[in-house]
Amino acid sequence: MEIVTSPVECRKKILSLTVEGKNIGFVPTMGALHDGHMELVRQAKLSCDFVVVSIFVNRTQFNNEEDFRKYPKSFDSDAEKLRQSGCDIVFAPGDSDMYPGTPEVKITFPRLQKSMEGRYRPGHFEGVALVVSKLLHVVPAQKAFFGRKDWQQVLIIKQLVRDLHFFSEIISVPTLREPDGLAMSSRNQRLSEKERSLAVIFSKSLYMAKEKLLAGDSVEETVASVRQAFDRMPQVRLEYFEIANRETLEPVQSVETNVPVSLFIAGYVGDVRLIDNIFLQEETE
Ligand code: PAF
Repeated sequence: MEIVTSPVECRKKILSLTVEGKNIGFVPTMGALHDGHMELVRQAKLSCDFVVVSIFVNRTQFNNEEDFRKYPKSFDSDAEKLRQSGCDIVFAPGDSDMYPGTPEVKITFPRLQKSMEGRYRPGHFEGVALVVSKLLHVVPAQKAFFGRKDWQQVLIIKQLVRDLHFFSEIISVPTLREPDGLAMSSRNQRLSEKERSLAVIFSKSLYMAKEKLLAGDSVEETVASVRQAFDRMPQVRLEYFEIANRETLEPVQSVETNVPVSLFIAGYVGDVRLIDNIFLQEETE
């Protein structure tokens, strides 16, 4: 496994592999790798000849300086995990490699970013779109893999790729969960033991809401019961719970069988912000 820090070097390598006829799979990450990331790598290995993983904590997508500063960093153990997974290249640029100057370009998604993460984290998706554009120029892969825990991000990246003619196919991979249901996330590492036990309320609420909707409860009743569950736990704070069309992200007033619906949740345990979502219609997600 090779570790490359220069964007120019990395792009050269990828282009020469492409000329040799290799199929490139790309997994962009911010490091602090967990089994959810390793599943993305596994999927990439299954369908591509050559796998590139990037590790770059992208400052421009953090709307909160403290969140950026506290984002877990574990390069050596990440590199070891990737070595064992059969990853071929780790692209690990420094800040100035990715941002040689202050960027002026701004990519916005007025429709897809108006709710949820876009609403509560102003500037977040502009930062994601900017860095993913840069990364896809450095690693012009046939396929790029993203986790469904960040479903709004998946839709935004698909839109980005369509609008700007990137030629990578965007593959979304189902969320991996801890045995109690908590979605795997790098931020889970920041939870104390007590906070970790409380954090399960996010996935539990989603599954409880899914059960209620499938049993015929209204959207209003379902939203109210999730709010009540959070009201009973003052140590956790609900930021949003939304029931929305999975493709347009527009909130739904009722659940129709022909409309694909997802349930989305975000909030805080202590000062750690967690998000999660599940599909309503599928048996397993
Ligand atoms: O999902 C993430 O880890 C990040 O948002 C990404 C896509 C690597 C961009 O920094």
